[in-house]
Amino acid sequence: MQEITLGRSSLKTSRLAYGTWRIAGSWDPAAVTAKARNTGVQTLIAAYESGFTLFDLADIYCGGVSEEIMGQTLRRVNGMRARVVLATKCGIRAANDSEKGAPYRYDFSAAHIIDACEHSLGRLGVEHVDLFQLHRPDYLMDPQEVAQAFATLEASGKVRHFGVSNFRPSQVTLLQSALKAPLLVNQVEISLAKLDCLEDGTLDQCLTEGMTPMAWSPLGGGHLGEGVRKVLPSQENYRIGGVKRQLDILAREMGTSRWLVALAWLLKHPAGIVPIIGTTRTDRIHELAAVEDIQLTREQWYQLLTSARRQDLP
Ligand SMILES: NC(=O)c1ccc[n+]([C@@H]2O[C@H](COP(=O)([O-])OP(=O)(O)OC[C@H]3O[C@@H](n4cnc5c(N)ncnc54)[C@H](OP(=O)(O)O)[C@@H]3O)[C@@H](O)[C@H]2O)c1
Repeated sequence: MQEITLGRSSLKTSRLAYGTWRIAGSWDPAAVTAKARNTGVQTLIAAYESGFTLFDLADIYCGGVSEEIMGQTLRRVNGMRARVVLATKCGIRAANDSEKGAPYRYDFSAAHIIDACEHSLGRLGVEHVDLFQLHRPDYLMDPQEVAQAFATLEASGKVRHFGVSNFRPSQVTLLQSALKAPLLVNQVEISLAKLDCLEDGTLDQCLTEGMTPMAWSPLGGGHLGEGVRKVLPSQENYRIGGVKRQLDILAREMGTSRWLVALAWLLKHPAGIVPIIGTTRTDRIHELAAVEDIQLTREQWYQLLTSARRQDLP
């Protein structure tokens, strides 16, 4: 797999990231069996052996079980930790987390950021993470307080670099103004089912600032593939019939699969979008190698954009 540099850093990673949201096979930690954990480990090994070196995690993925499965994998595969970039996230807190009756909420207090990082390190069984991302903007974000937490984590050697997720450009600018080091990534939803970031300034800012945009749910949670297993409530009503037909036409012409064309569409953008691959099937992980051979023309790219917009360009 091709290699890229993440943001304005010297961190080298694979062109595609592997996302661990679904690797436990459930989002309920109580439902995860030892067999399911082992399947998760095998999936991560397949991704690593296929050339993925960037792994996206979060403290909330299956209540921490995804991080534990990553930890199991790192212990099982000799030399893997040194060769991969571990990117995890914090800042979303489940209902009843820390106190009974507490609502589901966002928390960028310094105490929570530091505490969350230490727990992630424990579950992963590592000394540091390479990239620590704030998961969703906290309405009460105090940039100075976040900067203080980041400085503490960096000084203690627990985190190498920082990034954000689901931030609007103005929120990136605000937080960056309090930080010494550049934020490396903004992890946002981008796909032919979700075009907002192409039009709201997110990708423009990434190009201006040299940040890497990481695309979550690059297949709209499965809508652009063979169908969804489970998606976020915001993804339930995606209307993608037209763009799916257009993807099928191009895929047939090129002798490839619809989902690979959908990923190639992201790869063509000059901002250097890094799709975060979410499939848990090893056959699909292996099939991904072919995506780098798909070079869409400007005309094909625009055909897909126009189908996805469901209206002609102005
Ligand atoms: N920062 C955030 O707020 C945020 C939010 C959501 C996700 N994420 C990150 O983004 C990653 C990817 O998200 P995602 O899982 O929603 O990505 P996705 O690639 O859009 O969807 C993957 C899902 O589509 C299914 N699928 C159906 N047909 C497929 C095909 N032909 N090829 C591949 N997959 C197909 C997969 O099922 P099979 O497993 O059966 O293949 C899987 O359930 C997550 O793991 C996580 O790391 C971040």
